Amino acid sequence: MDWTGKIVLITGASAGIGEATARAVYARGAVPVLAARRGDLLLKLADELPGSMPVVVDVTTPDGPGAMVTAALAAHGRVDVLVNNAGQGLHVPLDQVVLDDFRAVLELNVVAALGVMQAVLPAMRAQGGGVIVNVSSGTSRRTIPGLGAYASTKSALNMLSAVAREEWAPDGIVVSNVYPTLTATDFHENLRAGAFDTGSRPPMAADTAENVAQVIVETVENGDAERVLTPGLR
Ligand SMILES: NC(=O)c1ccc[n+]([C@@H]2O[C@H](COP(=O)([O-])OP(=O)(O)OC[C@H]3O[C@@H](n4cnc5c(N)ncnc54)[C@H](OP(=O)(O)O)[C@@H]3O)[C@@H](O)[C@H]2O)c1
Repeated sequence: MDWTGKIVLITGASAGIGEATARAVYARGAVPVLAARRGDLLLKLADELPGSMPVVVDVTTPDGPGAMVTAALAAHGRVDVLVNNAGQGLHVPLDQVVLDDFRAVLELNVVAALGVMQAVLPAMRAQGGGVIVNVSSGTSRRTIPGLGAYASTKSALNMLSAVAREEWAPDGIVVSNVYPTLTATDFHENLRAGAFDTGSRPPMAADTAENVAQVIVETVENGDAERVLTPGLR
């Protein structure tokens, strides 16, 4: 696949896996559209990646996804690739989950993820195709005490991805799902509630955001339905 000039919209591009993905696609000649809430971080990254475009957005707001896509289309006229990556953890045993916290991560990890896909759909249909990579989590394929609320949101995302892949294939839109394993980002400092608990799962070495970005790039290129990064997990 020739990435040159491809417009790649990345949610959660201000840090971690999204930022690394922006750098990876930029290095291949693509034009990243950098979406997240922290405009200062987006501006700093956009300075480092000339031609990329920061879009300050909270994807959980009713108008956020639409405004983000409108901004990308106004600047570039198309969106070739969506990396639907913005997300947050909630690492609390189920008997202690505050339901408003659960609603918040459902809103971000599931409702907004679908809203962002819906927002790019008309443009991808009009241009005759596109690629969507949803960023899930290996936790949704395991049973890990303390991670049930978070993992359940990613399980819902998995189903949205699988069904979207079927429903939008006739439009030339390829939807894939990437499952990062434990990755060294600020994710565990940014949890909605709870904490990373090494006692609740086997110790494992953290992956790098750069490796996850490389896998996202490969998934865009090969169109695989799924890519699981947790060692030993399929
Ligand atoms: N790190 C891991 O161990 C791991 C493992 C498996 C899966 N994942 C998944 O990987 C994805 C990226 O996580 P990460 O590790 O890179 O964590 P991170 O460093 O905390 O990044 C999360 C990104 O999401 C953005 N974001 C959060 N809420 C948002 C909102 N309402 N609107 C727009 N953007 C929002 C954040 O930007 P702003 O704060 O600037 O808005 C940030 O750029 C997430 O979906 C996460 O669930 C991570």
